[in-house]
Amino acid sequence: MQLERFGGAVRVEKKGTIDLVTDVDVAVERMFRDLVGSRFPDHQVLAEELGGDSAVPPGPCWVFDPIDGTTNFAHGLPIFCASLALEIDGVAEVGAVYDPTRRELFTAERGGGAYLNGRPLHVSATADLVDAMLVTGFPYDVHSRIEEIVGLFGRFVGRARAVRRLGSAAIDLCYVAAGRMDGFWESDLKPWDIAGGALIVAEAGGRVTNMDGSAFASRGRHVLASNGRLHDAMLDIVREFRRSRA
Ligand code: IPD
Ligand code: CA
Ligand code: CA
Repeated sequence: MQLERFGGAVRVEKKGTIDLVTDVDVAVERMFRDLVGSRFPDHQVLAEELGGDSAVPPGPCWVFDPIDGTTNFAHGLPIFCASLALEIDGVAEVGAVYDPTRRELFTAERGGGAYLNGRPLHVSATADLVDAMLVTGFPYDVHSRIEEIVGLFGRFVGRARAVRRLGSAAIDLCYVAAGRMDGFWESDLKPWDIAGGALIVAEAGGRVTNMDGSAFASRGRHVLASNGRLHDAMLDIVREFRRSRA
């Protein structure tokens, strides 16, 4: 559905000053909800556009982003995906992220490893930040938090080989899992941005925490993911930056 409509006439609406939704986001989510409703009528769905209780429900809950990278999609930039996790009692058991323009399907099952189109994935071995390619994203309230968001971005730019900003948190996480990126951080994300990708990173041998180093939770909003080796150095940068602003 995403590819059929990509680059064609798409209805774009604003949910906030810079936060967009298209009719394709809604159509993909409707299709997904219908699919779960017909196959697993007693399962919960938490997805971006048509609501759902963000508290962790008991039992199975499909956490779904119909398009992660909507701004890219709306501008005709081919970096977007659909992002999915199956959580049971709040713990991700399965993750799947599909990038249709590259035909790349990233998957993971808890304890079963991570895969790209069926081939095993592993994080990079990069051990020093100066050799690292990092990636991040900016929240939709960035206009009112420019010093905080760009300030931390600047700290990483000053230490890493390169820092990218692709516009899809789920793809960012999968690229850490695939070793294309060495680390990722972002604040103020939603469960559907990160639930699937975080499991894929962990199953590819990486490490995923909150930005303060505490345990990752899909509802925890802030994420730092890495190949493991760079994790403490990345957390130190966040800590130093926060201390400098306290
Ligand atoms: C957004 C993307 C983006 C990130 C934003 C997210 P959306 O999701 O993941 O990379 O920086 O914080 O909200 O709106 O395209 O589904
Ligand atoms: Ca998203
Ligand atoms: Ca979305």
